Amino acid sequence: MSKLQGKVAVVTGGNSGIGFASAQAFLAEGADKVIITGRDQRAIDEAVELLGSRAAGIVANVADMAAIRQMGETLGTLTDHVDVLFVNAGVATFAPLEHMTEATFDHNMDVNFKGAFFSIQAVLPLMREGGSIVLNTSVNAHMGMAGASAYGASKAALVSLARNLSAELLPRKIRVNAVSPGPVGTPLFTTAKLGVDEEQLTQMGQHIAGLVPLGRFGHVDEIARTIVFFASDDSSFILGSELIVDGGMVTL
Ligand SMILES: NC(=O)c1ccc[n+]([C@@H]2O[C@H](COP(=O)([O-])OP(=O)(O)OC[C@H]3O[C@@H](n4cnc5c(N)ncnc54)[C@H](OP(=O)(O)O)[C@@H]3O)[C@@H](O)[C@H]2O)c1
Repeated sequence: MSKLQGKVAVVTGGNSGIGFASAQAFLAEGADKVIITGRDQRAIDEAVELLGSRAAGIVANVADMAAIRQMGETLGTLTDHVDVLFVNAGVATFAPLEHMTEATFDHNMDVNFKGAFFSIQAVLPLMREGGSIVLNTSVNAHMGMAGASAYGASKAALVSLARNLSAELLPRKIRVNAVSPGPVGTPLFTTAKLGVDEEQLTQMGQHIAGLVPLGRFGHVDEIARTIVFFASDDSSFILGSELIVDGGMVTL
């Protein structure tokens, strides 16, 4: 049976990687409509084209408060309700403490935590009773990794947010949970996105894969399946919780 039959879902950062795979999975599970957001009109248009006629896109930079507010308003013109919100848009800019600039620190926090927080605020008026919000965090919320201090803290904040918002949204029966992926092969692993050079990227990839007991990066579909679990009634008795999907990276 289709787990998301008739549901309306929003995926922030849905044009790429885990977000795009989750949008595909939502549609495969029968969602009526999936609305993705991202920064770049062309990337959004291409993704919507691939997702098909039940998809729509909104350009919104979640590091920009005005853009987040506008996203909420535009969303209201596309749908009169939302059942599932996957808060996925994120960046991972790594730097050791002594080289961390205020701009890099703020970028991690502004997109990953503040952007997530206010994206939820913007979508909340449209969310229906019984809805599900899923936050994309990271194993970096739980483990120490050189250079990942700002990123890890921004993601740890989301684990906390899942608990606090679950308590706050209890009267509306909206559940908030977190999924914390280990390393997953996505466009995030590029020199530009990680803020490292080619050699560092190769070393980082080998090092990180070596930290995973399963010995490999995860596939986006392995994360998307977990997002579907939290988005659907399969997880109806789970709130304020977290699933670490990491090939055993922090759990073994
Ligand atoms: N890949 C991993 O190993 C891994 C592990 C743990 C957690 N995660 C988390 O998973 C999420 C998705 O990452 P991914 O690996 O799928 O990487 P990705 O392919 O780079 O996807 C990131 C998405 O977020 C969007 N985004 C970034 N900054 C944004 C902003 N300011 N406003 C709106 N959208 C923005 C990107 O849009 P653009 O295309 O415009 O950049 C893209 O759609 C992130 O939150 C990341 O921290 C990833």
